[in-house]
Amino acid sequence: MQILKLLFGSALLAMMMNHATPANGQDGPSAATLRQAAGDRMLIGAAIMSRQLDNAELAGLIARQFNSLTGENEFKPDSLQHERGKFTFAAADKIADFAQKNGMKLIGHNLLWHQQTPPWMFVDDKKKPLPRDQALANLKQHIDAVVKHFHGKVIGWDVVNEAISDKEGEYLRPTPAQKAIGDDYIIKAFEFAHAADPDVQLYYNDYSIEGPGKREKTIRLIKELKAAGVKIDAVGIQGHWLLEQPATQVIDDAIRAFADLGVKVMITELDVDVLPRQHAGADVSATQRSVTDPYKRGLPPQIQEKLARRYRELFELFSRRQGTVTRVTFWGTHDGASWLNNWPARSRTNHPLLWDRQLQPKPAFTAVIEALSDRSAPASSAPASR
Ligand code: G3I
Repeated sequence: MQILKLLFGSALLAMMMNHATPANGQDGPSAATLRQAAGDRMLIGAAIMSRQLDNAELAGLIARQFNSLTGENEFKPDSLQHERGKFTFAAADKIADFAQKNGMKLIGHNLLWHQQTPPWMFVDDKKKPLPRDQALANLKQHIDAVVKHFHGKVIGWDVVNEAISDKEGEYLRPTPAQKAIGDDYIIKAFEFAHAADPDVQLYYNDYSIEGPGKREKTIRLIKELKAAGVKIDAVGIQGHWLLEQPATQVIDDAIRAFADLGVKVMITELDVDVLPRQHAGADVSATQRSVTDPYKRGLPPQIQEKLARRYRELFELFSRRQGTVTRVTFWGTHDGASWLNNWPARSRTNHPLLWDRQLQPKPAFTAVIEALSDRSAPASSAPASR
């Protein structure tokens, strides 16, 4: 194998093996699965939607490959309590049952976000912010009911999602919750979640916070939460990244900066966009019109290799930071199930994940397995000092 690797390079070799390997119930060219390769060093997860579990082939792959799950949409406030007081838990419960049956940890995403949150929570009929007390009561009622419903099933919650502003010079995003309650709405959300379940882990989750601008604001937020006596276990760096940006060094700097504040770091929504787009990050409102869709018929081998190389470098980094990076979750399972087929432009053919649309493993899968299996990576269980 070593000689073949030297002759062809490991990514190319992986591709050759990939094509030569029929679907064998192992989802990849080697017997190793992601959850086997990660062992107990970190959780490795995927975001799914409950209806995907009706596809037996996909459900089998999910159970074999991952040791943790996140609901892509079905744990969000709008899914769970679209109408005040009318909870709809069926879809989320289906994911929770599947996780339990397959020995997987479950992450709750999310308790509060400015998207997919029902208007009644924070605005009145005229779209004006509710009085603070009323908005706080609504937030508490939602968090209390949801966290208690999933007690013992969800190990940790993204308590607040994407609260930090993308704009230079603006700290927090002016969201309906922020406008009705004030800047301490984040502290309140964490306090309500902790009161509902003192044992459940609590996370702050956001995109592009590895970059210097949002990184500093995130550091400020973590410090403010800690100064207010709030329990926060981890920061979730979403990880909606591009083939060449951000540089792994930038990501590493952010991991170390957050760890220095005494929180764990989780990569919570990992995917690598291979299509051209105008903005980095994952602001769902930042859509674009004039776009190209160059890989409709499949990803050319050189891009396939580039993607594999990118994933290898990312997982080499996460492995080096094991103990600090305690979970990596992919935002989807196979390319056909990625939100990136519809954002920033609708109906494109993206290839951001480890399995293709036929559920065949891509070279990127092999690269991740190899990076995770490399036990020579120095462990850094203590937060690396800067
Ligand atoms: O449920 C309706 C369905 O009834 C309708 O027929 C269909 C028609 O378009 O829409 C369905 O809703 C869609 C929903 O996903 C469920 O599939 C929405 O249109 C669509 O906008 C929504 O997109 C989700 C997006 O969050 C919403 O803002 C994506 O699937 C989901 O991947 C994405 O996830 C977010 C994270 O929560 C936070 N970080 C960024 C990440 C990517 O945007």
